[in-house]
Amino acid sequence: MRTTVGIIGAGPSGLLLARLLHNAGIDSVVLESRDRSYVEQRQRAGILEQGTVDVLRAAGAGDRMDREGLRHDGIELRYARQRHRVDFPALTGGRSVMVYAQTEVCKDLIALQLKEGGPLLFEAEALAVEGADTDSPRVRFRHEGVEDVLECDYVVGCDGFWGVARQAIPAELTRIFERTYPFGWLGILADVPPSHDELVYAHHDRGFALLSMRSPSVSRLYLQVPEGTDAEAWSDDDIWAELERRFETADGWRLERGPITQKSVTPMRSHVHEPMRHGRLFLAGDAAHIVPPTGAKGLNLAVGDVVTFARALTHERQTGSAELLDAYSPTCLRRVWQAERFSYDMTTLLHRAPDATPFEDRLRLARLERLASSRAAETELAEAYTGFPF
Ligand code: FAD
Ligand code: DHB
Repeated sequence: MRTTVGIIGAGPSGLLLARLLHNAGIDSVVLESRDRSYVEQRQRAGILEQGTVDVLRAAGAGDRMDREGLRHDGIELRYARQRHRVDFPALTGGRSVMVYAQTEVCKDLIALQLKEGGPLLFEAEALAVEGADTDSPRVRFRHEGVEDVLECDYVVGCDGFWGVARQAIPAELTRIFERTYPFGWLGILADVPPSHDELVYAHHDRGFALLSMRSPSVSRLYLQVPEGTDAEAWSDDDIWAELERRFETADGWRLERGPITQKSVTPMRSHVHEPMRHGRLFLAGDAAHIVPPTGAKGLNLAVGDVVTFARALTHERQTGSAELLDAYSPTCLRRVWQAERFSYDMTTLLHRAPDATPFEDRLRLARLERLASSRAAETELAEAYTGFPF
């Protein structure tokens, strides 16, 4: 098989890239190791930055998002039983975010790709990228039990943190920057209307909690738990009781309980792989970088990467100049590191590490109070949350 761009992975980054290339008249083949329903059901991100919303609309993938997504103009910060709202449009000149689940973004992009785009092969596992530093890179893959080779002009590794594409970049050319956190998130989906109409980020001495949502009738909630926690060790009653404690306010706000339909634990890490390109192999999304989820940047960063690649390749096709492709890694990394910084700041602002000292506890409280009392501090949060420019 032969194509211009071989895309490994049909998560948000691979699917959106295929759509952007299709719209630019550039052919691609997407290889995805899992089956369609797995990709469509995997519960992950929920918040789209303004720029991501704009890109999906411009790509012709925004119709259902515009009908069913929930525009959010702010978030609530909660600490010391007090509530503080951050008003995004007022602080950023009109920017907001959209609550629309990653599962739905993927469903929309898969439907478009199957209807209008190039081949999208499920249960097609990439085994290795070969010849990345030649003019004809290849992806060796296995589909329906048979090994095959995809010959490409370019390969984009959109295969997430556990993918194979990164391994084709020689270790001596690579630098990895990493931090793991001594806690994770226990996430639940519950069939109950969200108890608040905006997201609530709560800091409590017992740890962080987040109230989010998937629709007007489905809540998504997270609890900070110790690293290595088994989700099954938490009963539904224990989860609700702990959420109630962490969200408690002085004004008697109430959390509605409902049937829990899913629960899982996510580890927290920051990770950056530099560079994001080797020859004709490009890395995009979680294949190149991970942020802890506080601040909701992962999917949005993946979108930034593939927009940058599609623009660069289109430029090369139109002008013959590879200057934007050559600038791919530094261009993406500038944005990546801003998101790494913001996600780290939000994580350390809102979580309590098990070995936190009394001094660090007081500093965290001072940072929260600064946010609640300074328009400059709030503006910094609102600008980063609603998104850095692509
Ligand atoms: P993935 O979504 O990981 O997709 C990679 C794809 O490649 C997968 O489908 C995988 O099956 C496939 N693959 C892997 N190896 C191979 C192979 N060898 N061959 C073929 N296919 C392969 N981000 C936000 O922006 N906002 C949020 O609110 C948010 N919340 C989150 C909450 C949680 C609990 C978690 C875990 C993450 C959250 N994120 C959030 C992060 C976001 O989900 C990820 O950053 C995003 O999924 C990255 O997309 P991706 O396409 O790069 O990678
Ligand atoms: C969600 C996840 C996040 O990491 C976040 O900061 C906000 C919302 C969510 O899954 O809804």
